[in-house]
Amino acid sequence: MARVQTAYVCQSCGSAHPKWSGRCDDCGAWNSLVEEQAAPPAGASARRTARGRAIALETLASVSAAPERRMTGVDEFDRVTGGGLVAGSALLLGGDPGVGKSTLILQALAAYARKKPSVVYVSGEEALDQVRLRAARMGLSQAPVQLGSATCVEDILATVASGPVPDILAVDSIQTLWTSALDAAPGTIAQVRTATHDLVRYAKASGTAVIFVGHVTKDGQIAGPKAVEHLVDAVLYFEGERGHHFRILRAVKNRFGATDEIGVFEMTGSGLEEVHNPSALFLGDRSGLSPGTAVFAGIEGTRPLLSEIQALVAPSSYGSPRRAVVGWDAGRLAMILAVLDARAGLGVSGRDIYLNVAGGLKIAEPAADLAAAAALISSHTGRALPKDCVVFGEIALSGDVRPAAQADARLKEAAKLGFSRALVPAGTKAEGIALERIADVGALIRLLDAT
Ligand code: TYD
Ligand code: MG
Repeated sequence: MARVQTAYVCQSCGSAHPKWSGRCDDCGAWNSLVEEQAAPPAGASARRTARGRAIALETLASVSAAPERRMTGVDEFDRVTGGGLVAGSALLLGGDPGVGKSTLILQALAAYARKKPSVVYVSGEEALDQVRLRAARMGLSQAPVQLGSATCVEDILATVASGPVPDILAVDSIQTLWTSALDAAPGTIAQVRTATHDLVRYAKASGTAVIFVGHVTKDGQIAGPKAVEHLVDAVLYFEGERGHHFRILRAVKNRFGATDEIGVFEMTGSGLEEVHNPSALFLGDRSGLSPGTAVFAGIEGTRPLLSEIQALVAPSSYGSPRRAVVGWDAGRLAMILAVLDARAGLGVSGRDIYLNVAGGLKIAEPAADLAAAAALISSHTGRALPKDCVVFGEIALSGDVRPAAQADARLKEAAKLGFSRALVPAGTKAEGIALERIADVGALIRLLDAT
């Protein structure tokens, strides 16, 4: 009799190793190898000889109807999915434990169910009473969502097969799923991958839109990311800083829409509230303006978003000055500081420097360079920027200020929120707002010195 083959599979990246070791050679994760039964050897000779069936090939131009979209009615969620859930697609919603994934899904399902009661929510983590309690707290008890508690994929598939095909099936969470076809423990890569695969196949066959909820691990990856992310059509992350009420829904993969879209929510005592005007939220109260802050006119996805960048330049009490950044890239800050010192002689290299994006927002756009530089210069000189002024532009290593995309949308949003001036890259054109065109960092320093 053939020996049962086992392999040590990394629970972080999914790679298989013949021997156990403390660290995965592929992804570097520690203590992540678990013994699992290996898949039967591929290409057993008997199967190899079976003849394939020819498939019909088509042209790129063949007309296929646009996919059917299922709008839940939670606008921020629908926008991030690219205009509603696509029939027959699978979506993975990832996030830290406790960030509000179950709350978001329950809210979206309830909103959809109110329009069409064809929604199934399977919770493998919480008892049904817990789910009901939460629904009551959110005022959703009357929404016709069908609830179930199951962790075995065969049970879930049998359940949905026993009634009419639901429009949306949500499974919370993939880490609790297991299939009786495998011996491995629930939550292992092999189980999660097989179970997800079965449900994705069900989605494609039935036309149900399947939503998976998945927890991310400490280092910010959905457990078994490589094992699951390629199986689904869309991957959304739900993010939020501890201590802040804002939650941001972000698409990192979407076969049916853009991936740079964000949805903004606020966690309240009665569930998540949609934030339709996030700029006002992230700017907060701007009555008293202090040196060291600049308003950045950014773009998140298709939406302009104003946010406040705060900088503090302080005398250093240690041999090597401290640098700390929240909400922005530390490497980018080092670069801006180097450019300010080398190209314009600002002289901040020996000082402690802190940079923070207000409200727990994370900014990845290079166009934030000029706003960060303005905040740093303002903190260094002790002179506040004009209160009614927004800033954007990318800074090159030469010190030149480069144009940023979608300047129009940025400036329109600024004007809408009552800003009347903007520090922008040279060459930017706009109406309805006074522009101060900045050619390089030297010009920025001279301008801020003069105000
Ligand atoms: P939950 O959706 O259970 O998180 P996840 O599924 O991502 O693990 O949300 C849990 C947190 O949300 C919990 O700490 C309490 C908070 N919360 C509220 O503040 N208000 C509410 O109305 C609800 C339902 C939850
Ligand atoms: Mg949950």
